[in-house]
This record gives sequence, structure tokens and C-alpha cells, in this order.
Amino acid sequence: MLIIKTTKELIKWRNQCQHFVDLVPTMGALHAGHLSLCEAIKSKTQPDEKRYLVLSIYINPKQFDNLNDLNNYPSTIDEDLRLCRESNVDVLFIPESSDMYAADTSVSVNENCLSLSLCGATRPGHFDGVCLVVSKLFNLVRPSRVAFGKKDFQQIAIIKRLIRDLSYPIELIAVATKREADGLAMSSRNLRLSKEQRAKSALIYAALQSAKNTNTSSSQELCIDEIGRKLEQELSALEFKIDYLTVVNVDTLKSCSSLDSKALLVIACFIGQIRLIDSIMLHD
Ligand code: PAJ
Repeated sequence: MLIIKTTKELIKWRNQCQHFVDLVPTMGALHAGHLSLCEAIKSKTQPDEKRYLVLSIYINPKQFDNLNDLNNYPSTIDEDLRLCRESNVDVLFIPESSDMYAADTSVSVNENCLSLSLCGATRPGHFDGVCLVVSKLFNLVRPSRVAFGKKDFQQIAIIKRLIRDLSYPIELIAVATKREADGLAMSSRNLRLSKEQRAKSALIYAALQSAKNTNTSSSQELCIDEIGRKLEQELSALEFKIDYLTVVNVDTLKSCSSLDSKALLVIACFIGQIRLIDSIMLHD
């Protein structure tokens, strides 16, 4: 595995590279969810096809609206290196901030529709930071395929829009959420949960599943207000602070009022200082 630490070196490597390149962008503290993105990309490669897989690890300061969250973002670089080697990553790109961003960076990349609601409403500037760093990674790596996780449902909808609207010649592979045995969606932030918070957090997905089952078994009419109220009561009683809890169309992220194949129940909530998100399709 080649480890590249500067944008200059990466550009040089890319210019010499004769093959197609795949990209998995991450912020590190890698877990099985991240590795499933590598597996998903590799599984689409023919045995006789030579492609390179680049995985980037960069805690992008521009997407953090909260300094405390940035400073406490976990970093497990030695373990990350081991996991990347095991997952047959060809190139690991780990840049420094001073290299990624000039001190007087003044160009931004803004998505002005899908970014305004949900996580974008509570985390102002977050998706601008994501769009900027992802565009830079696309320009540096020039991948023909990228993998993103469906866990970050809003991020994936926005990146699809970025690819479409800026005409990046890139295929996006959307990968299902990888969960712990008790159902909790894997996340680097889970490392920051206390033992008690970790045990409680499994109830988020259990609540989403029970909302899905009640809804699909009792009627075809989606009573969103009722689902929301019941779930909110259940989770608030467990001391989760709900940021949002709603049903949206998975592509447009607009509120959904009927149970169709696009209806996605989404939640963001705080447990202590830690913000967790999860979602479930209401119709299989
Ligand atoms: P990060 O949170 O490290 O996630 C990197 C990628 O892994 C994202 O595409 C995310 O959706 C995916 N992922 C995280 N947890 C997952 C899980 N449990 N199952 C499947 N996929 C999962 O998302 C970011 O970093 C950043 O915003 C980034 C895109 C790298 C830009 O800085």
C-alpha cells in the first residue's frame, strides 16, 4: 500500500497512473462501515480488470460547525493503516490541512436546495464544507467510481447532486448502513459513547424498526404525525434529545406524506454531547 501525504505527490501519482481509479473518502477512525465501502467497490471490479483503490483520511475542519466536535473527533491512525492494508487499499491519502486549504481559501462549493433542511438546518455550513472537500478530492484523485454510505442519507443525496450539477464523470456507489450486532449504525463517533450511552443507543434503530413494522402492518396510509409522536415519546423518555424526526423522500429530502417506495424515516438525536443519525426505508 502506497501512503501519500501531500497533494503534490498525489497529483504526480495520478498523472502517472494508467488505470481507472476508485475513491472512498473518509475522516478515519475506520470501522466495518467504512470497509464495506471498499468491499462494495471491489465487488464491482472484474477479476481481470486492473483498477486502483484510493482511500482518503482527512478530518475536514470546514465541515465542522462546532470546534468542540472537531477537537474531539476520534483518530486511530495506526489501526486505520492496518485496516486499509487488510482491505487491499492501493493508495492511502492522508493530507494535512495546510496543504488542503490555502490560508486565504475564498472559493466555495454550495448546494442550495437539499442542504438547507435536516442536518443542514442544525449544522450551518456543514454541507458547504463537505461539498468543498469532496470536490477537491474528486479533482485530485479523478476517480471513475466513488462509494458513499447510505447512513449519511442527506450527504449521499447532496453528493449525487454535486456529481450531476458539476458534470463529474463519476459513478456513485451507494452502500447500505453497516450495523453493530445490536442494530446501532456504526459510526466513528460511537467511540465517544460511555458504556451506558452505548447500551441505550441501540434503542434508536429498534425504535425505527418498530415504527416501520407498526406502520406497514396496520395500514397502507402513513400516519407520519403519529409515528413521530410515538417515537419521540419513546426516545425522549430515554433522555435522547431529538434534533429531527421525520419522513422524507430519499431522493428529494422533501417531507413525505404517503407510504411509497421512497419514504425514509430519518432521525438525528443527541445522547449527551454526541449526535447520532439513523434512518430506515419504510417500504421494502
Ligand atoms: P465519515 O463519517 O468518515 O464517513 C466516510 C464514509 O463512510 C461516508 O460515505 C459514510 O456515509 C460512510 N459510512 C459511515 N458509517 C457507515 C456505516 N455504518 N455503514 C456504511 N457506510 C458508512 O462522511 C464523511 O466521513 C465525510 O463527510 C466525508 C465524505 C469523508 C467528507 O469529509
